[in-house]
Amino acid sequence: MVKRCVLVVGGCTIAVLVVVLVVFLVVVLCKKNNFKDTFIQDCERKTAEGHSTYCVKVWSAFEQAYVDHDPCQVPPQAYDHLLSIAPPLPKYNWTLFWSGTREVAHQMSGGCYQTLEDTMLGSVLDGKTWCGKQGSNETFDSGCPNWTQCVNNPVRSFWSRASAEFAAVACGDAAVLLNGSSDTPFDPHCTFGSIEVKNFTPGLMKSLTVVLVTKDNVGANCTDESLKNLQKELKPGMKYICKEKTESELLTCKKNQDQSCVPCW
Ligand SMILES: NC(=O)c1ccc[n+]([C@@H]2O[C@H](COP(=O)([O-])OP(=O)(O)OC[C@H]3O[C@@H](n4cnc5c(N)ncnc54)[C@H](O)[C@@H]3O)[C@@H](O)[C@H]2O)c1
Ligand SMILES: *[C@@H]1O[C@H](CO)[C@@H](O)[C@H](O)[C@H]1NC(C)=O
Ligand SMILES: *[C@@H]1O[C@H](CO)[C@@H](O)[C@H](O)[C@H]1NC(C)=O
Ligand SMILES: *[C@@H]1O[C@H](CO)[C@@H](O)[C@H](O)[C@H]1NC(C)=O
Ligand SMILES: *[C@@H]1O[C@H](CO)[C@@H](O)[C@H](O)[C@H]1NC(C)=O
Ligand SMILES: *[C@@H]1O[C@H](CO)[C@@H](O)[C@H](O)[C@H]1NC(C)=O
Repeated sequence: MVKRCVLVVGGCTIAVLVVVLVVFLVVVLCKKNNFKDTFIQDCERKTAEGHSTYCVKVWSAFEQAYVDHDPCQVPPQAYDHLLSIAPPLPKYNWTLFWSGTREVAHQMSGGCYQTLEDTMLGSVLDGKTWCGKQGSNETFDSGCPNWTQCVNNPVRSFWSRASAEFAAVACGDAAVLLNGSSDTPFDPHCTFGSIEVKNFTPGLMKSLTVVLVTKDNVGANCTDESLKNLQKELKPGMKYICKEKTESELLTCKKNQDQSCVPCW
């Protein structure tokens, strides 16, 4: 009886050890290629054809931009090839830009409104950090320079290059959600002000609606000085419209939105 108990306990201990070892190996092996695997899986999920060969090709083009490079010397143009094979194409009725309004913009997006983060590459890379190192063929997802440490870092350069492309192909009626609680809702130094606005294509984009988003109607209104600078940037033929909306007005509208995609502003 005692002997059998010892055997059972011994067997259990060995089984537990084996399970722990297997879990450990799986974690270690998966972690090694985590960034790449996640990238390819997310790409496949977002690609209509779900072609894995396409997503492997996209990965190679992505990796080629920063691998084996000093992580402070990756300019936006390093992503030219990537963007040529995976361009951010407009597919919903409204292209939606944002600046200082990340959260509400993404609560509104999808269905009728398309942000950069709703495009394949944008959705795969949003919220991620990556970089390479000189003399290494690896992708690192930690220990990378942050947004301001150096301008030509792999992450910032990607968003600069992708934003320029996304803005250049925006067509018809577009909108931008600006933060009405900010002192300068239109900040010429942000990506929207310094890159997207400058890349709009005359003839393609017909109108830009500025939606000033406030908490409870307190803050900037459409007479705000900073918006004059935005108007100056728009090329002839692009109509400028400005609307003031509270966050809750937008979210309620989104909740009740139907297929017709009548805009919430
Ligand atoms: N998804 C993204 O991470 C991302 C980043 C930059 C730009 N964009 C595009 O540009 C527009 C938004 O850019 P924006 O600059 O006008 O708005 P913003 O100032 O709200 O910044 C947008 C994002 O850039 C990053 N960022 C900017 N400044 C930073 C800083 N000092 N430190 C750390 N991170 C910083 C943050 O991820 C932030 O959410 C959108 O229309 C979008 O298409 C997207
Ligand atoms: C505007 O900016 C403030 C301060 O950064 C932030 O608290 C608020 O959530 C932003 N508003 C919107 C609509 O994103
Ligand atoms: C990096 O190089 C090593 C050695 O040449 C090779 O075995 C490995 O597969 C490469 N890894 C990547 C991600 O290319
Ligand atoms: C970025 O890195 C610099 C230098 O290491 C540091 O001073 C700064 O606080 C960091 N900024 C952010 C937003 O993390
Ligand atoms: C708009 O904002 C300006 C500047 O803050 C203010 O003087 C003006 O009264 C506001 N207009 C309206 C209609 O609220
Ligand atoms: C939105 O797009 C859909 C499909 O492309 C189209 O059927 C619909 O008429 C559009 N709605 C508006 C308001 O443009």
